[in-house]
Amino acid sequence: MSASSAKKFKNPRAQYNFQGRSSSITGVGSYVPAKILTNADLEKMVETTDEWIIERTGIKERRLAAGDEFTSDLAARAAERAMKMAGVTAAQLDLIIVATITPDMPFPNTACLVQHKIGARRAAAFDIEAACSGFIHALEVGQQFIMSRTYDTVLVIGAEKLSSITDWKDRNTCVLFGDGAGAVVLQNRPNSHGLLTAVMGADGGCADLLFMPGGGSRCPATFDSVGARLHFLRMNGRETYKRAVQAMCTAAEEALRRCELEISQIKCVIPHQANRRIIDAVGKRLGAKPEQMFLNLERYGNTSAASVAIALDEAVAAGKIQRGDLVLLVVFGAGLTWGAAVIEW
Ligand code: ACO
Repeated sequence: MSASSAKKFKNPRAQYNFQGRSSSITGVGSYVPAKILTNADLEKMVETTDEWIIERTGIKERRLAAGDEFTSDLAARAAERAMKMAGVTAAQLDLIIVATITPDMPFPNTACLVQHKIGARRAAAFDIEAACSGFIHALEVGQQFIMSRTYDTVLVIGAEKLSSITDWKDRNTCVLFGDGAGAVVLQNRPNSHGLLTAVMGADGGCADLLFMPGGGSRCPATFDSVGARLHFLRMNGRETYKRAVQAMCTAAEEALRRCELEISQIKCVIPHQANRRIIDAVGKRLGAKPEQMFLNLERYGNTSAASVAIALDEAVAAGKIQRGDLVLLVVFGAGLTWGAAVIEW
């Protein structure tokens, strides 16, 4: 057990008398498509510069899924890697939850498609949608099934093919997003605390800051809606930015407070990888040292629900998180939605 968790903390779930049961991440994995789109490539597509993108966002490149590679394919690959690490077979999975805003299609849900692709015939499967905050929401939902003893093995995935809803003519948004998937296996692990707490919040009054107007019941696809580019995401970047910093800090502080933790006890903070400036502002306000903050957005951009799941996998692979370390995930996205989770790894 590493030094960061040597100090005491409170398990907020202990009051529910779970008799030692925990919802722990026993495997993590991620997958990003092979194709790289650099800032130099974007300079040829819209009026932008590598310098502007790096200075305003910190992003250098992002991944793009192939035409015949869908969100469920990215999700299935990440899932298989997480299952391998957990030593879990498809037959053992009780439930698959996919967080996404880019399902393969409006229905059936992407989790069902993943269930078929990985051969998890026993598993129930559903999606949840909380945009970039989706992974923490899905983790918290998955956790409930483990702690209630309804299920023993839950696969939680964040997966996006954002390139399919990106307006490649809109420089305000097209430089920001990328494709990818991250997954974890949740199981009870004796003598561990696992997911200690998850804070979730929303403000539907700000739904119009970041949204996709077309494709739902309000604006079904028509020739006109396609012509008006209503099937691409739209964002008021400046307003979203302000609210992101505020909401992420408040959520993280609440999660730490519930666990009676100081930020110095956290080994690794994994923020939603939307914008380097947002991450720096959040880290500063939380009092985290730069070496506590994990960043990979320069390589992937904002992959929405996949973002913190991919980053978690990479942080573990890089040896930045060891068993017993405390990890803080903090997210923000459309809805608006936000969340923070503390995990004993
Ligand atoms: N290249 C060059 N110039 C650009 C580009 C670009 N790619 N994009 C915008 N500009 C211009 C604008 O037109 C504007 O020009 P003007 O002043 O002449 O009007 C100028 O740059 C400044 O634009 P701002 O929008 O004010 O730039 P800002 O510094 O706010 O950065 C950004 C924009 C990067 C989008 C930032 O606001 C941001 O990161 N917002 C939050 C994004 C986020 O966190 N989203 C939530 C999660 S996403 C999800 O849930 C799916």
